[in-house]
Amino acid sequence: MREFVAVARESDLTTETALRVEVEGEPVALFNVGGVIYAIADTCSHAEASLSEGWVEDAVVECPLHGARFDLQTGRNLSLPAVTPVAAYDVKVEDGQVLVARRR
Ligand code: FES
Repeated sequence: MREFVAVARESDLTTETALRVEVEGEPVALFNVGGVIYAIADTCSHAEASLSEGWVEDAVVECPLHGARFDLQTGRNLSLPAVTPVAAYDVKVEDGQVLVARRR
């Protein structure tokens, strides 16, 4: 069964910030875009840069290393040089805690 795990306090993730956390040993990037929190795998599918260090616009993150873009809602790769998506996570907030669960 898929379980949500607490990864951060909501107050750690102010608007327009990103945070790198670990979920079951895997790095996950949290993004607060206009008050909506998204979570995708932190490691770029191209050459392993940290997506939490990328630039975000309109729920899309651009990798800081070579510029591949990923949809924050789905993890889908939107541009080269990335040719595969990254994992996406469902997010919920309860009692001030941010919880995530990897999508299957
Ligand atoms: Fe992300 Fe190359 S490492 S685009």
